Amino acid sequence: DTYDIAVVGATGAVGEAMIDILEQRDFPVGELYLLASERSAGKRINFRGKQYAVEDLAKFDFSKVKIALFSAGGSVSEEYAPIAAATGCVVIDNTSHFRRDEDIPLVVPEVNPHAVAGFHARGIIANPNCSTIQMLVALKPLHDAAVITRINVATYQAVSGTGKSAIEELAGQTARLLNGQPAQSKVYPRQIAFNALPQIDSFQDNGYTREEMKMVWETQKIFEDDSIAVNPTCVRVPVFHGHSEAVHIETRDKLSAQEARSLLAAAPGVVVIDEPKDGGYATPVTDAAGKDGVFVSRIREDISHEKGLDLWVVSDNLRKGAALNSVQIAELLISQKLLS
Ligand code: A2P
Repeated sequence: DTYDIAVVGATGAVGEAMIDILEQRDFPVGELYLLASERSAGKRINFRGKQYAVEDLAKFDFSKVKIALFSAGGSVSEEYAPIAAATGCVVIDNTSHFRRDEDIPLVVPEVNPHAVAGFHARGIIANPNCSTIQMLVALKPLHDAAVITRINVATYQAVSGTGKSAIEELAGQTARLLNGQPAQSKVYPRQIAFNALPQIDSFQDNGYTREEMKMVWETQKIFEDDSIAVNPTCVRVPVFHGHSEAVHIETRDKLSAQEARSLLAAAPGVVVIDEPKDGGYATPVTDAAGKDGVFVSRIREDISHEKGLDLWVVSDNLRKGAALNSVQIAELLISQKLLS
């Protein structure tokens, strides 16, 4: 069987990764429709050796497809995802727009695959935030074994998560500064080249940013546990591809570093790179970018807390953090025979 698919936001950073991943995983694609704004209509994109013309989302008839992968921003999903779902196709939405709705499943296939069946209510499944996805893939086996009660996390997030304009801003500022010219910021509120910005998304009344609160809400929803305490600080760094996270957990039951290492080594989607020597750890550029895994390093017992454990978690934010997770959700729908 093959499935007709629409990629919404096909010219964007995540959309391009979706097209690559559909091809790399040999996903059973029948007809493929690549959609973006009218600005991109007619642009040609290659898939499996064939050229496809980008079409204007506003004119597209979603009754032609079985699955629609959305990644064109929250307001586009807000308007078009319900229109697509009303035609009977399943929407897998990469934006934050529907994630907190109770009747919309929020799915990481390695963590809560059972939740996917809930898509029937509205025909929409939400893909979690990139930082949440990689953290939970790493924490799931530890939570199952020892019950995580609290998570302190600091992120080091790549600019590609913001989109193509941010990739250009980092490259452009870097070139200008190295040529002795001043940096200009349009996408980020401060210079991103050679810098670190402790703000991702907008500020909330409680002093946290929306990105930080997404990690709180989404962790509780996906782990189905509102009592789990999550305390994030999200930081944008001048890295193109790959988010990193320093994750500090507290567990109900004591978990040794060695136990954690074996659990992680056996966990789906996880690659352990953890040797206490120079370079014996994963970094975004050298290990994660362009790869599918969630890489875990620096696994150690917290010297400041009896039941604390520290980890360094790295993954490609456009792949596992976005496009790959969406395609894996589509694969789940097929393997669980939910697409009839
Ligand atoms: P376009 O290239 O035509 O603007 P990124 O996250 O890299 O910035 O990409 C955003 C994606 O979302 C692009 O594919 C972009 O298409 C698409 N997009 C943005 N706004 C709209 C819109 N109003 N309708 C359809 N697609 C949109």
